[in-house]
Amino acid sequence: MAKIRVYKLADELEMESTELVEVLKDLDIDVTSHMSTIEDDTAELIRGMYQETSPEETATEEEAVEAEKTAEKSSAERVEEKEEKKEEDDDSSKIDISPPITVKELAEKCGVAANSLLKQLMNLGVMGNINYSLDEDTLVSLIDEASLPVTVTDEEEELAVCSTQKVKTDFEDNPEDYRPRPPIVTVMGHVDHGKTTLLDVIRKTRVTETEAGGITQHIGAYQVQTDGKKITFIDTPGHEAFTAMRARGAQITDIAILVVAADDGIMPQTIEAINHAQAAEIPLLVAINKIDKPNAQPDRVKQELTEHGMVPEEWGGNTICVEISALQGENISELLEMVLLVAEMEEIVANPNRPAEGVIIEAELDKGRGPVATVLIKNGTLEIGDSILAGASCGRVKALIDEHGKRIKSAGPATPVEILGFSDVPAAGDLLQVLQDDRRARDISAERKEEQHAAQLQSESSISLEDFYDQVQEGEIKELNIIIKADVQGSIEALRESLTMLSTDEVTVNIIHTGVGSINETDVNLATASQAIILGFNVRPGLNAQQLAEKEGVDIKTYRIIYKALEDIKDAMAGLLDPELKEVVKGHAEVRDLFKVPDVGIVAGVYIKDGVVNRNHKIRVIRNGVVQHEGEISSLKRFENDAREVKEGYECGVGIANYNDIKVGDILETYDYKEIKRTL
Ligand code: GTP
Ligand code: MG
Repeated sequence: MAKIRVYKLADELEMESTELVEVLKDLDIDVTSHMSTIEDDTAELIRGMYQETSPEETATEEEAVEAEKTAEKSSAERVEEKEEKKEEDDDSSKIDISPPITVKELAEKCGVAANSLLKQLMNLGVMGNINYSLDEDTLVSLIDEASLPVTVTDEEEELAVCSTQKVKTDFEDNPEDYRPRPPIVTVMGHVDHGKTTLLDVIRKTRVTETEAGGITQHIGAYQVQTDGKKITFIDTPGHEAFTAMRARGAQITDIAILVVAADDGIMPQTIEAINHAQAAEIPLLVAINKIDKPNAQPDRVKQELTEHGMVPEEWGGNTICVEISALQGENISELLEMVLLVAEMEEIVANPNRPAEGVIIEAELDKGRGPVATVLIKNGTLEIGDSILAGASCGRVKALIDEHGKRIKSAGPATPVEILGFSDVPAAGDLLQVLQDDRRARDISAERKEEQHAAQLQSESSISLEDFYDQVQEGEIKELNIIIKADVQGSIEALRESLTMLSTDEVTVNIIHTGVGSINETDVNLATASQAIILGFNVRPGLNAQQLAEKEGVDIKTYRIIYKALEDIKDAMAGLLDPELKEVVKGHAEVRDLFKVPDVGIVAGVYIKDGVVNRNHKIRVIRNGVVQHEGEISSLKRFENDAREVKEGYECGVGIANYNDIKVGDILETYDYKEIKRTL
């Protein structure tokens, strides 16, 4: 029997797909989304229903508007419900307040007159005005003095560390102000599968006429118009930007398009993209590209997708696949139509009339213009003169520049825009917020800088294997996510199998990604995004990856013996970890020359790239990211003299005990052990 898609029928009946899905569900007809298909006779039934009732229902325009309002309201109500729920959760006889807070804010929160607070503040010997920012000590004294029903929380301090966390503002969204905003769509996929070509073709054919001439790509995001509706695309060359953003938990993307070349199939970065989209819980649409190629095998791609848990909807699943040729512009309209349909299901709304919130997509220090940040506004409207805070950076908006290089006065929801006016360069992924109070922005920025500095110094992992058991006990984690990197595929297979077998009823071991080669930044980003531990077998992290892991608190464990790796994971799962010796990398040196010294063996002439080399450090030899040897330093010389320690930027001679197979270009990594106490 013939079938029809829900959205087509909705179109025909001039109703929203979401509405029709609800109607069908009410009738106990099995549909999951607008993409589901229904039998023709069911469709006929619905038509019957609506043709009878529709003349009254949609007779006048006013009523249509009314209906739209209700639809809008329903999403608004939902938001309202959420907010209410939140309020209920917070509900207690005392009001939670976190410093710093101004006298005015405190007065408003407690429902007392600001003037009386100012008087009491004076009694405490503090002369302030209503905008006086109370620090924790003063706040506590004032609460005592004025007997306010307030508990002081140090939430702000916690928030300050995490630059993607929202700072509490006075502004409260009124759900009635929510309006649909353009969806934000990120294009992902393996190298050379045609992401850029797809974005180009979309841009060339869809950018509004007036803009067509000046498609200067100033920023990695832009808006296009299709069927009178706007879509904001994020251009993510390589997938680095997206990864970084995901890693910081920024919920900037509403929808992802996964581009897979039909002649190449699913490749490592395709899998990684799937992982990211799933971790972020965003809908993923597949564009099977390059179908114009003679060796294109779109069905093979679909087959491979099923192997990764994504069953194409024409095969009974709910993954939308569109076969396209980006090069020849084939089926692009269909793809965009699907994007809009998915967007419709997602209820993407924002309130344009509020202080802006957004996410930093990229940022750089421009020689002439100073710090320049590209931001995607997610909610509210950003205006010139606004005080802004993003991560540890703050400032005041001096100029806004749109994707075509034009200066604009304000930027609303889903608009990509360049901002001038930051005092320093924020980091990609940071949450941008407009704060009413300039000084508060500066205070928080300063505090975050301090925290960041402290966190860097401390460099203690937040998702370490050692913490894992505690988190399991507290019910926080039921799965141990692991990323495996190894020198050869065989080791990966062995590790994957043995690790998966460690899963118990309570805790599952999840191998979320594997790969041959050294541990890189992408691995670390993925680990951050998915709270995973990285397990390196005979491979080491690159310097950048190491630094990023330290910054993000990702635990990288490296092993040379499989059973040791298994033992550690098993112990972590059983909560039996002994106090452990944590390895601390001290420095890296590059081998630039080799000397044969009689009676000693080969001595490497090295340049210390970072850190230090100390005579007592342990050392490992790394060649192309693969560990060749681990052992002791037998000699350390600066010119002719024995040295105890040589620092970054200097050259020295290093002899390695019982190892002569060193080569020019090798990296020598020095390390030491630090004892970490285990508390259970
Ligand atoms: P990275 O940014 O490096 O990850 O690659 P990408 O995914 O952006 O790929 P890009 O768009 O640069 O395309 C790679 C190559 O594939 C280019 O030579 C394109 O011309 C070609 N290509 C892209 N789409 C199609 C297509 O639909 N058909 C054919 N035949 N070639 C295509
Ligand atoms: Mg590209």
